[in-house]
Amino acid sequence: MKVLEIQGGRELKGTIRISGAKNSSVALIPAAILAEDDVTICNIPEVTDTDALSEILEFLGAEVKRASESIVINPKNIENKEIPEVLSKKLRASYYFMGSLLGKFKHVEMYFPGGCSIGSRPIDLHLKGFTALGATVNVENDKYVVDAQELKGANIYLDFASVGATINIMLAAVKAKGITTIDNAAKEPEIVNVATFLNNMGAKITGAGTSRIKIVGVKELKGCFHEVIPDRIEAGTYTIAGALLGNYLKIDNIIPEHIEALTSKLIEMGVELEIGDDYLIINKGNKYKSVNIQTRVFPGFPTDLQQPFTVLMTMCNGKSTIEETIYENRFMHIPYLIKMGANITIENKKAIIKGPTPLVGCEVEATDLRAGACLVIAGLVASGTTIISNIEHILRGYENIVEKLNDVGAKIEIKEI
Ligand code: UD1
Repeated sequence: MKVLEIQGGRELKGTIRISGAKNSSVALIPAAILAEDDVTICNIPEVTDTDALSEILEFLGAEVKRASESIVINPKNIENKEIPEVLSKKLRASYYFMGSLLGKFKHVEMYFPGGCSIGSRPIDLHLKGFTALGATVNVENDKYVVDAQELKGANIYLDFASVGATINIMLAAVKAKGITTIDNAAKEPEIVNVATFLNNMGAKITGAGTSRIKIVGVKELKGCFHEVIPDRIEAGTYTIAGALLGNYLKIDNIIPEHIEALTSKLIEMGVELEIGDDYLIINKGNKYKSVNIQTRVFPGFPTDLQQPFTVLMTMCNGKSTIEETIYENRFMHIPYLIKMGANITIENKKAIIKGPTPLVGCEVEATDLRAGACLVIAGLVASGTTIISNIEHILRGYENIVEKLNDVGAKIEIKEI
């Protein structure tokens, strides 16, 4: 079994360069099959989630060439085969093949996706979108069979501004006949990145980044070159670490507007920050004010940073609260923070954190991706040694996390035990 071993309490100094966004990449890779010829996407992070999607592409018959940070996908020989359960269960984003295969072949058979266990995570809104476009959806033994004689543009209202449903409907609708509108669409930067990619391929999508997206169906999509935006959640994770341990820690290659919900909370707490055009510099402070956060869809405070942020709250003076409004079960990191010395109680969807409490290293488990990121930060700030198990979750979403942290002064290594 692989574990992460962290010797805590070391200051972080130097530069961390942020990789391409995992949550964009996992949609861009499946979207590439909609093109008729080669697609090059640069700045794709090397994480196990993107590897798993490349494996699905290869299973379907695409040619995939990976060179450093770019990926070249030749989708000419793609066949519409049922994706084996073992591949689709590896990650949640495998469901983007539903939209892209449906958009390309009007038929798709796929098992339920995998991903972090942070609540029930239904995909009813994706299916509602496919149905509105003219498809029929049947569920047979844990498998979705989605079929359409013809996909026709429709007006679709999402009851919740779901990231996954917005992207999946865009993928299914780009080649549908006529005009599709998605109302109450998600506005996350990753949606804009995917829409730009599809437009580079010849799609006609407007309004991405607002709550109304309009898609005028086109007959064919061509190959293109595209760049992934920087990962705002990775940037946020290291920024939080910087607020605890930074000594002029530079977080480079970021889009500051994408993490404004975080940086404004940090400023409210009293964190010393310098924000540049595409970087920020952060220093550890002595005393932080307690704050309250509520997770919200973009541009609100991202649920994906809620867990890493909890560590910072253990160092604030007084009572801080986190209200999780997106997922039902995203507090699995809390028992481990308590084991390390935090004073946290959970009341319904709210975590109440009383600080400051010093953290002490011990054995903990990464129950999901961002819980893992939270425990890495906790281990960095704790005294003594922290050993994190189940690190596959962390490696799904953070490129070169060990190298990046060691390069700025941390002492962290992957060990086989
Ligand atoms: C994406 C991100 C994830 C992030 C989340 C919210 C990717 C690969 N993952 O996940 O990191 O935490 O956005 O910012 O981009 N829901 C339904 N029915 C649906 C779809 C969603 O009820 O059909 C609910 C979900 O159960 C959840 C909420 O809506 O409670 C948010 O889901 P969604 O925005 O779809 O998140 P994901 O796309 O799964």
